[in-house]
Amino acid sequence: MNLLFLLCLCSLGMTEEPSTEAPDEVHSCGTRPLLSTEERRSIGGAVERLGLQLLENLPIGPQQPNVVLSPLSLALALAQLTLGARNETQKLLLKTLHAHNVPCYHHTLGGLLPHFRNTSLEVATRMYLRPGFEVKLSFVEDSLARYQSRPVPLVSVEEVNQWVENATKGHISNFLESIPHDVVLMLMNAVYFKGEWQTRFDPSVTSKGVFYLDNHNSVSVDMMKSAQYPLRLLDDPQLEAQVASFPFKGNTSFLIVLPMPGRGNVSSVLPKLNISDLYRRLPQEKIMQVNLPKVKLQYRQELQDALTSMGLGSLFSTPDLSRISDGPLRVASIRHASTVELSEEGVEASATTVVTTTRSISLFSVNSPFLFTLVDDTSLVPLFMGIVTNPAPDNDRMVNDDPHVNGTMSDQPIPAGPRVNNNSVTGSTVEVC
Ligand SMILES: *[C@@H]1O[C@H](CO)[C@@H](O)[C@H](O)[C@H]1NC(C)=O
Ligand SMILES: *[C@@H]1O[C@H](CO)[C@@H](O)[C@H](O)[C@H]1NC(C)=O
Ligand SMILES: *[C@@H]1O[C@H](CO)[C@@H](O)[C@H](O)[C@H]1NC(C)=O
Ligand SMILES: *[C@@H]1O[C@H](CO)[C@@H](O)[C@H](O)[C@H]1NC(C)=O
Ligand SMILES: *[C@@H]1O[C@H](CO)[C@@H](O)[C@H](O)[C@H]1NC(C)=O
Ligand SMILES: *[C@@H]1O[C@H](CO)[C@@H](O)[C@H](O)[C@H]1NC(C)=O
Ligand SMILES: *[C@@H]1O[C@H](CO)[C@@H](O)[C@H](O)[C@H]1NC(C)=O
Ligand SMILES: *[C@@H]1O[C@H](CO)[C@@H](O)[C@H](O)[C@H]1NC(C)=O
Repeated sequence: MNLLFLLCLCSLGMTEEPSTEAPDEVHSCGTRPLLSTEERRSIGGAVERLGLQLLENLPIGPQQPNVVLSPLSLALALAQLTLGARNETQKLLLKTLHAHNVPCYHHTLGGLLPHFRNTSLEVATRMYLRPGFEVKLSFVEDSLARYQSRPVPLVSVEEVNQWVENATKGHISNFLESIPHDVVLMLMNAVYFKGEWQTRFDPSVTSKGVFYLDNHNSVSVDMMKSAQYPLRLLDDPQLEAQVASFPFKGNTSFLIVLPMPGRGNVSSVLPKLNISDLYRRLPQEKIMQVNLPKVKLQYRQELQDALTSMGLGSLFSTPDLSRISDGPLRVASIRHASTVELSEEGVEASATTVVTTTRSISLFSVNSPFLFTLVDDTSLVPLFMGIVTNPAPDNDRMVNDDPHVNGTMSDQPIPAGPRVNNNSVTGSTVEVC
């Protein structure tokens, strides 16, 4: 899994303006020792709220059936921008980041970066500066100290794309087509996560299965299967969803929230999600039968509209970014790309081999639209979050034989119907209802 996040800041002009340095609250938190679990959890909650809000504001539909984003990456980018903001702009950004719930926000968020080196997550940050653009030293120093964002000269789009490709281990290439000449600063971060299940799936068992898009349509997907998988599974009547936690290598967990067909749906579940609450309520691991679609999701999105509906519209018109530079600046673009791949790979087959068979084995079958989040177990920071309403948008839709009501609890056969698996078909052209 990996993700890339970019802010382009455009220069509006070159009017002179006296610099009036405000007292810098960023420094008042000092350098304290390692973060406590409580501090990590407080930042986890703040990042989660940001992620949920963004998910609620991103378009989802037949054209774009899946959304994947990294709330952590977004928080890092907006927080770094906050270091350059003053007055209303600063207040607005801190509010969006839910920073008021976190003592010493910058210190705490930045303090998580060393912690992530212990997990399978890699975070790379970088600040591109147009040569000749006069940036304030204090902004560069704060960015480096808090978020390890190193300043480098902006020389070419090729060099930027190369960095993106490197930082995402080759998963995102040709990220930018061009860089407008008035862009003076780009704040970038890339998050790369190599997900490995603690209990892997056996690739030889993966086979075609049905994924129900709604009551009337389904698609055929590659379904990873396991007859005996250790899983923490919660039937949550409040959420009207099943919640399952798959442990990943390196103290992270992959939570799947599967709305109960006919009762909840991804949009009704979203406002009710609370990761720490789910962590508290998830029961002990049990051995289950599991079906999980094998998916590769690629997502690219300009976030301006979503952030504008979250109240950040002024960033794109007349923000106060006078701690970056004295001239007027505005944010030109906030761009985001991510890919997430779920495959059989894991550290090693573990619990499945030492399991005693129980008489009745429950089934957790992810065969209808679901939400997921990859969570750092210590801080509960959502590293990635997403919604999958169609794991195979390139495949043709099929008409369901059965209404979908029974979907999650039974492993239904593939309904009869046209089964043209044609990879050149795109999601939007198969809108045959
Ligand atoms: C989750 O619920 C707990 C209380 O049950 C609350 O303290 C916390 O702020 C909630 N988290 C989010 C992200 O809403
Ligand atoms: C902050 O806003 C106030 C009132 O809107 C204004 O008087 C002041 O000049 C602003 N400060 C800076 C540094 O722009
Ligand atoms: C990383 O893990 C090691 C060993 O588990 C531990 O000693 C160290 O404190 C951890 N570092 C952070 C920043 O969490
Ligand atoms: C990308 O990685 C290659 C090989 O490690 C290195 O030579 C190159 O400088 C890197 N490019 C950027 C832009 O980081
Ligand atoms: C995972 O967490 C446990 C206990 O919280 C710790 O002992 C272990 O070192 C951690 N593993 C990694 C890879 O961080
Ligand atoms: C999801 O459920 C809510 C309330 O149950 C309903 O209003 C909404 O139309 C549903 N959305 C979809 C896409 O089915
Ligand atoms: C679910 O399927 C079972 C067996 O196929 C059937 O008996 C039951 O009525 C179905 N339930 C609903 C709600 O359709
Ligand atoms: C996809 O389907 C169309 C029409 O059914 C066919 O003309 C085309 O050759 C197919 N493409 C591939 C790559 O199979």
